Amino acid sequence: MIPSRVTIYEVGPRDGLQNEKGVISTEVKVEFIQRLVAAGLPIVEATSFVHPKWVPQLADAAEVMTSLADRMGDAGRDLPVLVPNERGLDRALELGLKHVAVFGSATETFAQKNLNRSLDEQFAMFEPTVKRARAAGLDVRAYVSMCFGDPWEGAVPIDQVVGVGKRLFDLGASQLSLGDTIGVGTAGHVKQLIGAFTEAGMRTDDLAMHFHDTYGQALANTFSALQEGISTFDASAGGLGGCPYAKSATGNLATEDLVWLLDGLGIEHGVDLGAVVATSQWMAGHLGRPSPSAVVRALAGP
Ligand code: HMG
Ligand code: MG
Repeated sequence: MIPSRVTIYEVGPRDGLQNEKGVISTEVKVEFIQRLVAAGLPIVEATSFVHPKWVPQLADAAEVMTSLADRMGDAGRDLPVLVPNERGLDRALELGLKHVAVFGSATETFAQKNLNRSLDEQFAMFEPTVKRARAAGLDVRAYVSMCFGDPWEGAVPIDQVVGVGKRLFDLGASQLSLGDTIGVGTAGHVKQLIGAFTEAGMRTDDLAMHFHDTYGQALANTFSALQEGISTFDASAGGLGGCPYAKSATGNLATEDLVWLLDGLGIEHGVDLGAVVATSQWMAGHLGRPSPSAVVRALAGP
C-alpha cells in the first residue's frame, strides 16, 4: 500500500556539494543548510567527516557543524553527517553530533575506489565505528552504494546487494538507504530489490531509497518504491549531486521533483515547495549554472 506520509531525507549539502568543481564557502553551505531546514525538510544531511584529501569540497566539515551548532544549538548537532571510519566518528563526537551515517559498497570495485578497502575489509572498518557510535548514544544510518549497477562491474546481483545491506544494517543501523549511485535502475528492478530485502526479513520501514537521476528514471523508481510501501526517500535540492569516485554519477533525485510527485498523489511531506525552489535558485547563483531539476525550471521560469 502506498504510504500516506513520506519522510524526505535531504542530501543536497552533502551529496550535492561533494562533487562540485568550484569552491563553495563555509558561510554559503551553512546558509544553504539553514534554508533547507527552514523550508520544512525534516532531515538535512549536512556534510562528511571523510578524509579531506579524498573529498576536498567538504574539508570544512568541522567549521560547518560548529557554525550550525552556534546558530541552531541542538538542532544543529542533530543534523546527520557521513563518517566512514573511527577517525571520522571521533571528529563527529568531538562536536557533540548525534546522527552519523556509514556508507558501504555492494561491489568489490567501488569498495576499493571509494573506501580504499575490499568488500570484506569495509566491514572491519564499519563494525567498530557503528559499535562505538551506538555505545555513545548516536543514531547510525547505513548506505549501500551500487545497488542496481556498477560502472566497472555492470549489473549487480540482487542477492549480493541484500547480503551486503543486511550485514551493514545488522551492525546496529536504524535505517538502510539503498543507493542507485549511477542512476541505472528501472522501476521493475526497484520492485524486485525491495521484495528481496523484505523476503530476507527487513521491514520496508527500515529501508530508504537513494536515487540518482542520471538516466531520468528517479521519479519512476520512486513511484515503484512507494507502491512497495517505502516511506523514506533521499533527495537533493535542485537535483545537485554525484559521487566523485563513481564515474557517470550525476545529480540525485531533485527534492522539488519528489515534492511535486508526492503532492499529486496526496502524500504528506511537510515541505514548503516554494521555499526549496527559492533556495535552489539562490544556490544555482552561487554555483554559476541553472538547476537540473525540471520542477525548479518550470516554477522558476527562465
Ligand atoms: P585511507 O587512505 O585508506 O585511510 O582512506 P587510512 O585509514 O589508511 O588512514 C590514512 C590517514 O588518513 C591517517 O592519517 C588517518 O588518520 C587519516 P595519518 O595517520 O597517515 O596521518 N584519516 C582521516 N582523516 C580525517 N578524517 C577521516 C580519516 N580517515 C582516515 N575520516 C577513507 C580511507 C575511508 C578515509 C577514504 O577512502 C575516504 O575518506 N573515503 C570517502 C570517499 C567519499 O566520501 N565518497 C563519497 C561519499 S559516498 C557516496 O556519495 C554514495 C552515497 O551518496 C550513496 C549512493 O549514491 O550510492 C552515500
Ligand atoms: Mg549518492
